[in-house]
This record gives sequence, structure tokens and C-alpha cells, in this order.
Amino acid sequence: MWGKIIHWIEVRIGLEELVDKHSREFHTPKGATFWSTFGFVTLIAFIVQAVTGIMLMLYYIPHPEYAFKSVQTITNEIPYGWLFRSIHNVGGNMIMALIIIHLVHVFLRVSYKKPREITWMSGVLMFFLVLLTLISGHLLPWHQIGFWQTTVTSSVPAFLPIIGEGISSYIRGGELVTGITLSRFFAFHVVILPVFIVTLILIHVLLIRRQGLSTSSIIEPDDDTATQDEFKRQVHLESQPIFPYFATKRLFMVICYFTVIFFILTFLPNLFMPIDANIQADPTITPESIRPEWYFLAPYQLMKIIPNDILGISLITIFCAVLLLWPFFDPTETSRNIHKRPLLFSLAAIVLGLWAILTIWGMYS
Ligand code: HEM
Repeated sequence: MWGKIIHWIEVRIGLEELVDKHSREFHTPKGATFWSTFGFVTLIAFIVQAVTGIMLMLYYIPHPEYAFKSVQTITNEIPYGWLFRSIHNVGGNMIMALIIIHLVHVFLRVSYKKPREITWMSGVLMFFLVLLTLISGHLLPWHQIGFWQTTVTSSVPAFLPIIGEGISSYIRGGELVTGITLSRFFAFHVVILPVFIVTLILIHVLLIRRQGLSTSSIIEPDDDTATQDEFKRQVHLESQPIFPYFATKRLFMVICYFTVIFFILTFLPNLFMPIDANIQADPTITPESIRPEWYFLAPYQLMKIIPNDILGISLITIFCAVLLLWPFFDPTETSRNIHKRPLLFSLAAIVLGLWAILTIWGMYS
């Protein structure tokens, strides 16, 4: 019976050839380590967010009077509602951590060079869009923390000269965070931003499939991509079919991802859901301290310590633009071996160090 069904499908869509093309024929460099699996784990993390998000959306009501209550109902009354909510909450933080690890890895591997400039730029855009998706999601439960964090984060664009005020009030749908902001953030969180992210994921993955994964130029000699003037799939000196070798590494890392999620749910349930997350938003009571989530603390702290707001927001904007266009700042003919690039390595170390210092400073100030 099974055989007949599979044959029926095979005749119509050529499944065998399709699987062969994407598993046995797709080769990965022999030196592809566990670090090279983080892009894939991020992809799985994104799918987990989509599935749990859809489950929450079935019961969530995007209205200031009912939003908080509907989230409480999901947590306390709907069967397994607490599980979907907790995975979605912890998963949001995990996806940010995974993207940062993946970004740092591809940077240190210098994989962004020709012909992978578009892969890098689509990645940076996804990084920004995922950040905005998390920020918009934070308002949805309509609790004290989310409400006041949104009041702070939505005022950041206002520091931009001329257009800033307009952007802030467009994001909020007025001067203050209100029910209009909630509807707007709901639309951003569940439709607008995910549509852009999914489109970028398709571009990102298609390019990786077309070009192949980059070799590690620490193990292999630098390739000649600088002079390449026609499309060429990456050829590795020693390579292995993605299945079963690299696929097993990916599977192991996905299991690690779920282990971390369930470890946090079991032993640190309040790590990303503090007590104030159980208090309904009250625009008349300002909490003693309002701090954005950990992934937004560095730019927030930078804005706080730089006395001139325009200078602070300009620095952040320049940083984002340089990150997006980074492949064009690194000359094509320079080596891809990070061991031969002490300046590049130092730059990465300084940026990461400053990011960590600002984040820790922001946490305790
Ligand atoms: C939602 C976010 C992202 C997803 C789902 C994703 C997905 C992937 C996947 C599946 C791969 C194949 C290799 C692997 O499994 O690691 C990959 C490779 C790559 N990614 Fe991402 N990625 C994301 C974000 C980023 C970011 C933020 C950057 C950098 C700014 C980036 C740049 C790259 C580059 C340059 C490669 C090619 C690496 C190579 O050829 O060695 N990606 N990504």
C-alpha cells in the first residue's frame, strides 16, 4: 500500500530526484563544524515561533480591554496554552541569540565576500526585522513591562532630526501608546514583518543552495573569487554530501536548541517573564525603572550616555548602515583567512566587547 502511494507521488513529482538533489548531491566542506549549523538552527527556531504564534493567535484579542485577559486565559485555562506561550516567549529570546552567533560566525569566517554579498545583506535585514518583530510582540500581552518598554523604544526614532517625530508618531498611531498602537503592533508582529522575513529567508536559502557553503579558508587555501566574473558553485577540495554527515550535526544542534528551551522553562521560568509581566498595563503608573529587553540594551545605553541625542542616533544609524554594507567595505582581493587579518579580528573583538559592556551597563544602571 505504502509503496503504491509513494510510486503514485514519484511518477507525478519526481520526489527521488528532488531529495537526491537536496541531500546527496549538495556537498558541504569537510571542515564544516557545529558553528556552521547555526543558520539552520535559526531557521528551525523561526518555524517554532511561527507555529506557537499561530496557536496563540487563535485565542488572543488585540484590544486594550481584552488583550491582557486573553493572554491570562491562554496561560491558565486553555489546555497546553501555558506551554505554547512559554515556548514562544523563550524562543523569541533564543532566536535573537542564535542570529547573533550565526552573524559573528559568518563574519569571522569572512563568508560575506564575493559572491556572497547579497546573502550577507539579506541576513542583516533579517536581523533588523526580527528585532522589530520582538519589540512589537512585547506590547501584545498588554502588561506593565511591555507597555512602558514600548513607550521608551517607540520614542527612539524621535531623536532623528526632521523625520524622527513623524516616524515615532506613525509607529504609535499618535503621541502616546494606546489601543491604536496595539492594533498597529499586532499587524506588524503577525503579518507585515513575518511576510518580509519569510521572503528574505527564501532569498537567503536559495543563494546558499546556488552558491554552496563557503570553504573554511583557514583549512583550505584562499579561493580565487576576487577575479571570478561568471557564476560558479563553490568547489571544495574535500567535501561530503550534506546527508548524512552535516545533516546529523544539524539535527544534534536542533536537539540542543530544544534542550535549552525546556531547561529554561523548567528551571528558570521567570528568566524572560518577570513578575511585572503579570500586572495589567496602567498608563497612569510609571514603574520605577524601565529597561528594554537585553537585545536592545546596548543601543539604549549608548543613547543614555551620549549627551547629544542627534549624535547618539546618528552613531547607531551609521553602525547599522556599515553592518548592512560591510562586504563593500572589505576589499575583494584581501584574504578570507581571519588568521591573516589581525585588524579585522580586532575590529570584531572591539565591537563585540563594546556591545557586551553597554549591555551589562544598561542592565545595572
Ligand atoms: C532569520 C535569520 C537567518 C536565517 C534563518 C539564516 C539561515 C541560514 C542558513 C540555513 C545558512 C546555511 C548554513 C548554516 O546552516 O549555517 C546560512 C548561511 C549564511 N548566512 Fe544566514 N541566516 C539568518 C541570518 C543571517 C545573518 C544575520 C547573517 C549576517 C549578517 C547571515 C549571513 C549568512 C551567510 C554569509 C551565510 C553563508 C555562509 C557560508 O557560505 O559559509 N545570515 N544562513
